[in-house]
Amino acid sequence: MSVVKINVLTVPAEQRETLEKRFASRAGAVENSDGFEWFELLRPVEGTDQYLVYTRWRDEAAFQAWMEGPMKASHQGQAQGGGERPKPASSSAAVWTFEVVQQAAPASAAPEEG
Ligand code: HEM
Repeated sequence: MSVVKINVLTVPAEQRETLEKRFASRAGAVENSDGFEWFELLRPVEGTDQYLVYTRWRDEAAFQAWMEGPMKASHQGQAQGGGERPKPASSSAAVWTFEVVQQAAPASAAPEEG
């Protein structure tokens, strides 16, 4: 089964709009990566003030390959916040890893495969 990688971003209230705009301008950044299955940017409403960057991958290797290649190119300078790059909107980031144990989709949805 797939692996879920969640990047947990702590974002000061006044930086939320900047963060969301930056993500919006990156639409299309992961869609063509091998083994990529799903992405959602989750805005906190209640219970936490951290944004979750939810991504799902075919397996750990697919995620690592994206991290080493496309992600490095598209995230360059973000973590440092220095140089000519704008400062990150988030004040900290941490990655959570999960295995998908079980899943369901509406019966009306087209079956995935197999
Ligand atoms: C689990 C996968 C991912 C990891 C590990 C990751 C990692 C990071 C890290 C470390 C930062 C810097 C945060 C900081 O400096 O505080 C960041 C920022 C960012 N990432 Fe990702 N990322 C992931 C997925 C994605 C995806 C799928 C997209 C695009 C669709 C994306 C777009 C961005 C953008 C736009 C920022 C800048 C946010 C800001 O201004 O602070 N990331 N990411």
